Amino acid sequence: MERNITLENMINRKSVHHFKNATLSVDILEELKNSLFAMDKLFNSADFSATIVSASAMKRTFSIKAPYYLVLSSKKTPSHFMNIGFMVQQFDLYLNAIGLGGCWAGLAKPSSKVNQELLGGFVIAYAFGEPDASGSRTLEQYPRKNLSSIAEGQDHLDLIHYARLAPSPANRQPWYFVTSPSSIDIYRISNNFLKATAIDKLDQISIGVVAAHIHVAGYLENKPLTFDIKEVSHVEAILGYQYMLSAKINP
Ligand SMILES: Cc1cc2nc3c(=O)[nH]c(=O)nc-3n(C[C@H](O)[C@H](O)[C@H](O)COP(=O)(O)O)c2cc1C
Repeated sequence: MERNITLENMINRKSVHHFKNATLSVDILEELKNSLFAMDKLFNSADFSATIVSASAMKRTFSIKAPYYLVLSSKKTPSHFMNIGFMVQQFDLYLNAIGLGGCWAGLAKPSSKVNQELLGGFVIAYAFGEPDASGSRTLEQYPRKNLSSIAEGQDHLDLIHYARLAPSPANRQPWYFVTSPSSIDIYRISNNFLKATAIDKLDQISIGVVAAHIHVAGYLENKPLTFDIKEVSHVEAILGYQYMLSAKINP
């Protein structure tokens, strides 16, 4: 994990929607791309591609006007959406740590020329640059669900506290956690009628995002953890939610 990230970055961060029209040097952009690939992976392999493009390489319909976009693409795998959510959310925290900022751009699309050059299919973009105003906030300014409505169990609530602060599309917070001394089982809202639609993809990415917050908090609080997917028969069935993966707390 990037050593600059602190617990405060998870509390301070917010999605940046307004950017200065300032350019970043080629060296900084290269360093940022390298840092993305140096982030911890959700599982052992995370086979995705990322390219940084300027606003002119994106379709013009998206409302956030950022100087740069990270464009992510991947071959289809059972967990490629979660993997991208996991690694790019660490990147989001890293940007906050170094005074830059960004916002997941679930509706943005690259131009057809960029699209043709991508390896694998286009997954999602992330807009970033130098924030135009303060890119941070305090805990009191967080519009989030109560802890009691997103989690059951009394263990690792310190980690759930940071998970709760993770970003999600339109702030849907599509997650639910079941905690025990040895693990945190992570669920997402079932989208029965919306399968294969954009919201389903974005929710899967959000589960990777929330797992990144658990991972970073675990690392910084000296609770190393690893992620795996349990047999569904080994996890509690939660009405309206679908099991996704678990954080195993290593003793
Ligand atoms: C996968 C994903 C996609 C998102 N897509 C958009 C988007 O298209 N436009 C936008 O303005 N914000 C987008 N967001 C940002 C959310 O709206 C934002 O995280 C949420 O409202 C909570 O605000 P916060 O990040 O400042 O805590 C996205 C967030 C995630 C995780």
